[in-house]
Parts: sequence; structure tokens; C-alpha cells
Amino acid sequence: MVIVDDAERRVLRNDYDTDPARWAANQQATSRFVARDIHADVADGFAAHTAGPVLDVGGGNGVLARLLGERGVGAVVVDAAGHVADAPRPGVRGDACHLPFRDGTFAGAAALWMLYHVAEPVAALAEVRRVLRPGARLAVAVPSRFNDPELASVLPGWGQPWSFDAENGVEQLESVFPSVEVQRWDVPIGEVPDRAALEVVLRGRGLSAAAAADAAGRFDTPLTITKRGMLAWAAA
Ligand SMILES: C[S@@+](CC[C@H](N)C(=O)[O-])C[C@H]1O[C@@H](n2cnc3c(N)ncnc32)[C@H](O)[C@@H]1O
Repeated sequence: MVIVDDAERRVLRNDYDTDPARWAANQQATSRFVARDIHADVADGFAAHTAGPVLDVGGGNGVLARLLGERGVGAVVVDAAGHVADAPRPGVRGDACHLPFRDGTFAGAAALWMLYHVAEPVAALAEVRRVLRPGARLAVAVPSRFNDPELASVLPGWGQPWSFDAENGVEQLESVFPSVEVQRWDVPIGEVPDRAALEVVLRGRGLSAAAAADAAGRFDTPLTITKRGMLAWAAA
């Protein structure tokens, strides 16, 4: 599940095509047990400044693209996994480090909850900047390496750096984009009501079904989980 690269930064292996139930659990946990999700905030942030097109890099099955569409903002999703077929059209299967678009195509871009999958995030950021128009903005969301501290004892590698996380991400963004604004959170908002729900949360965080069931039994529920992470807006 987790690969450690030469710089001893964790990279979360892409399992979206091989273990779609893990991603389904992750999306279910986000919508049911996390009180605040940033997708709508990001869509509002773009809608206030542009009618698009916005490129959603690693846009998955199109959560942000749908919200942008509801706000009248055009969106294109590019994603490495097959579930991009479920995103609103146009969705393109592709790699963040080799975007199949011309220079200066997009009025905005997003990379939400995906840069910890990339071994060389700066290469992906440079590629995103290439396809942005001058002055266009990129929204990036990632968790902290210290996210979900209540679950630290059962999350492999908890506290170790990701290739891109809330602690090392700003420096990487600033190496590519001249202007970066950051919003951080560290709030106990995830209310997990019972053991079954905790299993879904742990499955979504990468544990196998058996490991999630075993680990969930070690906690008392309801359990409040502290969410730590950041949303950054970078300008090209
Ligand atoms: C946690 S999901 C987030 C999906 C979406 N951004 C969201 O917020 O709902 C991470 C996504 O990044 C995609 N991904 C991972 N590495 C990628 C890469 N190198 N290029 C493009 N997509 C990638 C995965 O396929 C997956 O859909």
C-alpha cells in the first residue's frame, strides 16, 4: 500500500483499479463521518473568479467537476485510474506528470487529495503550471502527516512524511508558483458513531477488510477524530 522513496517519503500506491472497494469506503467515510469537506469551498473559490475551464488533476470520479458544473464553471478531469469514466465529460485518463494538454490551456486547476500518490510532486506541479494561463490559480488539498491522531496506533507509518503533505507541501508549491496562500485546519470534526462506521473509515485509510475489522475493535465508539490538513491556493 505504501511505498517509501529514496528521500524516505511515503508515497501512497495507486490502488484505485485493483481495490475499488477501498476508494468507495474512503468516499463513504468522507461524506458520512467528516463534518466539513473542502470540495464545495474549492468550487466556490473558482466560481468567484472564472468560468473555466478548470483542470481537475487526479479528479477521480468527478466530485469537484460536478460541483463546478453546478456553478457554471467548465471542468476537465484527468486521472490515472479507470473510474475517470464516471466523471462528467470530458474526462481523460492520464498522468499528472505528463498532461495531455497544450501550454496555457486552463483558467484554473485543482489537485485535491492526490499529490501524496506522486513520487515527484514538483514535477507534477511544474506540469500543471505549464498548462495554466498566466495568473490562473491552482487549488491543492492534502492531509497532515499527523492527521487522525486518535488512530495513530493502527495507521501504518503515521507521522512519517508523505511525498507531499501539509508539512512539506508549501515549500514544494513555492518552488513552482510565485504566490501561495494557505489555510490549515486542526479540528476534532470527524464523529464516528460506532464500530461498523470505524471499520469503513479504516478501510478507506488503506487497511484490508480483515485488518480494519480487527483494528476497529480496539477503540471505544463513538469516537471523535481530529482532522489535520491544508488547502493551498497557488497562482501562476
Ligand atoms: C484520493 S483520490 C482523490 C480524487 C479527487 N481529487 C477527489 O478529491 O475526490 C486520488 C486520485 O488521484 C489519482 N491519481 C493518483 N496518482 C495520479 C497521477 N500520477 N496522475 C493522475 N491521477 C492520479 C487516483 O487515480 C485517484 O483518483
